[in-house]
Amino acid sequence: MFRTIDWSGGAVVMLDQTRLPAEVIYRRYERAEEVAEAIRSMVIRGAPAIGVAAAMGIALGMKEAGGSSMVDLERRMENLSKVFAATRPTAVNLFWAINRMRRTFESTRGLTPAGAVAALEKEALLIRDEDLEINRRMGRHGEPLIPESARVLTHCNAGALATAGYGTALGVIRAAVEKGKKVRVLADETRPFLQGARLTAWELAQDGIDVTLITDNAAGHFMSRGEVDLAIVGADRIATNGDVANKIGTYSVAVLARESSIPFYVAAPLSTIDLSLASGVEIPIEERDPEEVKRAGTTRVAPEEVTARHPAFDVTPARFVTAIITEAGVAKAPYEKSLKALFEGSS
Ligand code: MRU
Repeated sequence: MFRTIDWSGGAVVMLDQTRLPAEVIYRRYERAEEVAEAIRSMVIRGAPAIGVAAAMGIALGMKEAGGSSMVDLERRMENLSKVFAATRPTAVNLFWAINRMRRTFESTRGLTPAGAVAALEKEALLIRDEDLEINRRMGRHGEPLIPESARVLTHCNAGALATAGYGTALGVIRAAVEKGKKVRVLADETRPFLQGARLTAWELAQDGIDVTLITDNAAGHFMSRGEVDLAIVGADRIATNGDVANKIGTYSVAVLARESSIPFYVAAPLSTIDLSLASGVEIPIEERDPEEVKRAGTTRVAPEEVTARHPAFDVTPARFVTAIITEAGVAKAPYEKSLKALFEGSS
């Protein structure tokens, strides 16, 4: 089994997701700035995995400055928080993890610098371990929603590669398979980064889970012919009213699912829910380099001079979401009430 991200011998090790599925290459980072660049360039991606990477990156950066005074460490923490916060704007797990590391640092006042650095390393590893456990719990809550012999459509990659392991949407699918259900997955290829083709197809095939790759624009075709029983995706940020930001194209999948009377589920940890935002219009949407749209891999597929746009995420209004599966249970509309109740129940 592959490891998405690891802490090994005082360095951060990541499976390079820009090279999958052609090559399985692990990158070793010994400097925080390198970890930030790995997030920016999508060597690691997926909301929970980005959070774990930022936490480990901060732990690494604080270790680099380990011999300094607590005042120097405080300055370093400020600086690292800014560096990581500037990597990718949409996945709230990034900011959640940064804040958790900041709170841990604050709680180390009175310790030696070495003690503070050790506490930060421990916290980063705890965030990783908790993520894995959260995904398994999410799987247990979501599994009953997957019928026997279900044909399940998913978009992007919300799997082990997008988390510390097991996955959110793919975690629910894994839990159903572990229960003995025969599940068949339709994976949208997810242009332009091809998370579906390169990552979801790869990780499900590694696990022997039945997966069929389709182009993004074939989703409606299969739904309209009765070849999809439900859709399930992950999320990068969920607002208080249940609006869901996820990979570009998710909104189209949700609208098509509604038109075809197919349930549309979102699986995400509580750390993806941003109760500071009332609705999805407030969610910052990352715009990536248009060059990524004008290429398929390294091959140019559009005239050099043409203008392209590349929003990396879209927002699916809550009215299209059948249910949100979390580690604390399953929320249904009205989400203002049900999401808050999950937080209250988990504390
Ligand atoms: O641009 P990416 O690959 O980081 O986008 C990932 C997604 O949109 C995932 O669906 C989301 O982060 C959930 S991952 C469990």
